[in-house]
Amino acid sequence: MTIRFDGQVAIVTGAGNGLGRSHALALAERGARVVINDLGASRDGSGASSEAAMEVVALIEKNGGEAMAHGANVANFAEVEDMVAQAMAKWGRVDILINNAGILRDKTFAKMTLDDFKLVLDVHLMGSVNCCKAVWEIMRQQNYGRIVMTTSSSGMYGNFGQSNYGAAKMAVLGLMNTLVLEGAKNNIRVNALSPTAGTRMTEDLMPKEMLDLLTPEAVTAGALLLCHKDSPTRQILCAGAGGYASTRLFETDGIFLAADQQTPEEIAAQWDAVNDTSKQQNLESGSKQTEKFLTKAMSQLKS
Ligand code: NAI
Repeated sequence: MTIRFDGQVAIVTGAGNGLGRSHALALAERGARVVINDLGASRDGSGASSEAAMEVVALIEKNGGEAMAHGANVANFAEVEDMVAQAMAKWGRVDILINNAGILRDKTFAKMTLDDFKLVLDVHLMGSVNCCKAVWEIMRQQNYGRIVMTTSSSGMYGNFGQSNYGAAKMAVLGLMNTLVLEGAKNNIRVNALSPTAGTRMTEDLMPKEMLDLLTPEAVTAGALLLCHKDSPTRQILCAGAGGYASTRLFETDGIFLAADQQTPEEIAAQWDAVNDTSKQQNLESGSKQTEKFLTKAMSQLKS
């Protein structure tokens, strides 16, 4: 199977540098027409420049591909709408959206200002919401759409000094879970990528020999798999240094307590059973949890 994107239009946010740049180049190389979105901000989100995005467009065009640059700040819905309108005017469709743009404002929670917390949520979470919202109706009308969120191990597992970033990165998974359900009947699939790569975001965190292994291209291979026509949906694909793994949320089967036993002491007494992983499940929607508890409660009442 060769994965190609001929005839498709992709929007990659934050595509002027790092991972987004790599995703955009690979999509173009495999036939997609690509919107290179980048605000041209520095790592902490300050400043703006169109230079990096223009460079990526020039590189794609030099290789015979088609691309356009757009400097929308993903946190600004009007700018995102303008970007999507320009893509539609030029190419008439949007098949793929990779929500990749991101910034860092690291500080321990004790020292973090609420402004730094909100800004990071605005770029990562609201940036993804804005871009999804702007393409959602187009994808529904087309009966085709592939969306990739960019999450992070910092969100799924925590990372010292990244409460704002971690919260935002976990939030995009919540967005994914519901869009998966609401998009299914229109053939819209939504997945998430959890990358680890040597980019300007991580360049001062590790020695060079490690960064050299953590190539953006290794992550991009996973991104392409998540946005092609036979992609999975609701997958969290972790990728870095040639390693590929999948993260899932599992819920244990749990215990049932009758009304007169529903006390913190009784839950504590059965703590091992609450945490017993032998029958754990990856639930396919939130209502499955209520269903599970009610099924147990009703069967206990009958017996
Ligand atoms: P990067 O800093 O090299 O690239 C991010 C790009 O996003 C920059 O070109 C920047 O100008 C652009 N950008 C920032 N704010 C923007 C906004 N409001 N609107 C439009 N563009 C904006 O970073 P990198 O490493 O390539 O990160 C890409 C994504 O991967 C981010 O979402 C990041 O959080 C995520 N990630 C990266 C990891 C890594 O190891 N590099 C680890 C986990 C997640």
